[in-house]
Amino acid sequence: MLFAALLIAGSAAVEAATAWDGSRFAWYTSDAGDDFASALPIGNGRLGAAVFGTANEKVVLNENSMWSGPWLDRANSKSKDAVPQIREMLISGDITGAGKSAMDNMAGNPTSPRAYQPLVDLGIDFGHGSGISSYTRWLDTYKGTVGVNYTHDGTDYSREYVASYPHGVLAVRLSASEQGKLNVKLSLSRAQSVLSQSANVENGTGVVSLSGNSGQSSDAITFWSEARVVNSGGTASSDGKTISVTGADTIDVFFDAETSYRYPDGTDAQAVVTRKLDTAVDVGYSAVHDAAIDDFSNLMGRVTLDLGSSGDAGSQPVPTRLSNFKQNPDADPQLMTLMFNFGRHLLASSSRDTGPRSLPANLQGIWNQDYNPAWQSKYTININLEMNYWPALVTNLAETQKPVFDLINIAIPRGQAVAKTMYGCDDGGFVLHHNTDLWGDAAPVDKGTPYTVWPMGAAWLSADAMEHYRFTQNKTFLEEVAWPILRQTAQFYHCYLFKWNDYWTTGPSLSPEHAFKVPQGMNQAGGSEGLDISIEMDNQLLHQLFTNVNETCNALGLDQSDTDCAAALDKLPAIRPPAINPDTSRLQEWRNPAYSDTEPGHRHFSPLWALYPGSQLTPSLTSPSGSLSSAAAALLDHRIQSGSGSTGWSRSWAINLYARLLRGDDAWKHAQTLVQTYPSPNLWNSDNGPGTPFQIDGNFGLTAGIAEVLIQSHDGVVHLLPALPESIGAKGSADGLVARGNFIVQELVWEQGAFVSAKIEARSGGVLRVKVQGAEKFEVGGQPYEGAIETEVGEVYEITATA
Ligand SMILES: *[C@@H]1O[C@H](CO)[C@@H](O)[C@H](O)[C@H]1NC(C)=O
Ligand SMILES: *[C@@H]1O[C@H](CO)[C@@H](O)[C@H](O)[C@H]1NC(C)=O
Ligand SMILES: *[C@@H]1O[C@H](CO)[C@@H](O)[C@H](O)[C@H]1NC(C)=O
Ligand SMILES: *[C@@H]1O[C@H](CO)[C@@H](O)[C@H](O)[C@H]1NC(C)=O
Repeated sequence: MLFAALLIAGSAAVEAATAWDGSRFAWYTSDAGDDFASALPIGNGRLGAAVFGTANEKVVLNENSMWSGPWLDRANSKSKDAVPQIREMLISGDITGAGKSAMDNMAGNPTSPRAYQPLVDLGIDFGHGSGISSYTRWLDTYKGTVGVNYTHDGTDYSREYVASYPHGVLAVRLSASEQGKLNVKLSLSRAQSVLSQSANVENGTGVVSLSGNSGQSSDAITFWSEARVVNSGGTASSDGKTISVTGADTIDVFFDAETSYRYPDGTDAQAVVTRKLDTAVDVGYSAVHDAAIDDFSNLMGRVTLDLGSSGDAGSQPVPTRLSNFKQNPDADPQLMTLMFNFGRHLLASSSRDTGPRSLPANLQGIWNQDYNPAWQSKYTININLEMNYWPALVTNLAETQKPVFDLINIAIPRGQAVAKTMYGCDDGGFVLHHNTDLWGDAAPVDKGTPYTVWPMGAAWLSADAMEHYRFTQNKTFLEEVAWPILRQTAQFYHCYLFKWNDYWTTGPSLSPEHAFKVPQGMNQAGGSEGLDISIEMDNQLLHQLFTNVNETCNALGLDQSDTDCAAALDKLPAIRPPAINPDTSRLQEWRNPAYSDTEPGHRHFSPLWALYPGSQLTPSLTSPSGSLSSAAAALLDHRIQSGSGSTGWSRSWAINLYARLLRGDDAWKHAQTLVQTYPSPNLWNSDNGPGTPFQIDGNFGLTAGIAEVLIQSHDGVVHLLPALPESIGAKGSADGLVARGNFIVQELVWEQGAFVSAKIEARSGGVLRVKVQGAEKFEVGGQPYEGAIETEVGEVYEITATA
């Protein structure tokens, strides 16, 4: 008796240990209940599915262009006349008056753009109310699939969910260990604004459809969604709303939806859905499944990371691992690897080139079940949307950025109109504020002096286009995509900036979401305000923008007869350089050292933008003697000591900032704290811990931060293991990370805290400079490294530690 019990327990443990690679699989022994943040997410870059795995299955389905309504013209026409007066007030020191006037004259009307919406829920009722055992549910981050299986009444049931990029649909296979055992009812449902719903069986195939809209009486976004139900064995019937299948061996479900956003004539969307579903049904589940997995695992397989083995700790279900990680994070390094892989899974699932008007990952990627989601689940561009793409280039998923450039191009005409209406600038430039939506909304958002009037959204977003070029070296992209974005971004500032103390200056503007206490003599002393001129982050963004324009001009062979090239070089020397507060020796967030923080531990690290993701404050690039980067470090330490890192995304920014300061152990401490604090049961990042809103940026920031301790390349050098943390130093490897210059770092290996070897493939040729950890000496191709290498296209350079 005792022996038998031990044997069973022992064999179960062995099976679990061999079955689950803890770096690749997130697995569970129970369903998600009614918790969205326990449901497992897959997607094809346009359609998203969150699988609950409940006996009566619920899958929340999304389509990334289903938002709460048509474009809203929110520009405030009073702004144009008010801006010069507000500027004058700020220059003369009336902070309170300027803030009040800006709120009265510049806030958008209404104050918020559109919100991202749920599409439909797929319900699959198996009739298995109770008596379920051996329940398992998993996400495979390598294949991009979700599985559910369990035993009921002696039969094993399983479900497999696939999101297909090649076929453009979602596919599900239901199966059972014995023939004729599947009895299910399938339906689509939606809580709001349903226009039509039907179910019928045609030629033996079940067809369920639901169309709906965003609720307006005119110009609403409408959608068509449809599922096809193909059973093998058994019979299918319908009651007009639900498909019932009884006695089947297997059942395959194919789902698709399109909206009027990409197909403005409603019937077109339906025709496109019909065509894709016809094809999917025609080729069948196996072909759809295989093509989807080929595509997805090709993306995921570009990078392989090993941060060390967790042994048995890594093969436990996720809830156990998350709980153990809180006690002893060093015991499960594979959970960190899983988070890295999960971040790449989320990016490849939520952001793909799906054709014209592809849309990027929003605050929740593409997964949302609420009609009133947190922060409208929109595109917040004073950190969050950009953070979503931090891992894209370095982790070898450059093509996931294409939707960002599509959205910028949608936003350009909106931003040109707002530049004209609100700032009187109509010479081609465009302006964006701190959020946008699928229509490229460009007007100020919400109403408060620390966030609303921030005309810098395009300056930050356009930097992504430059980085895309730096990593990929794609000249066609630089010429056709990046350059038009960069020059039109810069054109706005050529009109908008004004001279103050001999510097080209922004204002009214702000340091995202942070406020200062108004000093004596600046109207309401002690009041909390955000609005000012010459914001530190603005200056960093302008420095980067004009540097990017200059770099592009050189790369494209344009000279100073190009007015945009000449104008950028003209502006650069007159952008105010970063200032150090004389009392605190910290980098100064605002122009005036007398402004004091209202929140010393504020979640945004805006004045450190130029440390990460920018590069102006990089230790090796700042002079004299690194004083600026020291001041940046002092500000970062002060922010952290005062409680920053207080949201998942903020914590993940801290990881990247410390990595850039080459402080790997600090970076890792924040990475571990993030995983101890913010993941929901399904590993989604949350704003403030499980149960608080899902925000996907922290997942992406963490993935980027893990890469950033292993490889950096922002100062003209491919730096291997720049900030290797002791915690993962014992032994590990990374294959496939990318450095600027289109250098692929293969088989990067370390042991006992030290670099062992790597190979660098020069995909575009060009000059390669290498640095390894803090050391000067290493070998390239068996010879001591002596400086810049003129590489050949496609050649691989072997880097080894000097013996
Ligand atoms: C569920 O799938 C896992 C992984 O493939 C397998 O080990 C297990 O035996 C399956 N369980 C059931 C009840 O089918
Ligand atoms: C059913 O068959 C007819 C005739 O071949 C075809 O036109 C129709 O598209 C089919 N319907 C489905 C759902 O396959
Ligand atoms: C280079 O960029 C162009 C324009 O965006 C794009 O069409 C092309 O596919 C890119 N080439 C590669 C190799 O990615
Ligand atoms: C502009 O680009 C050229 C060529 O890359 C470079 O030498 C120069 O330093 C740049 N100018 C500024 C102000 O950055």
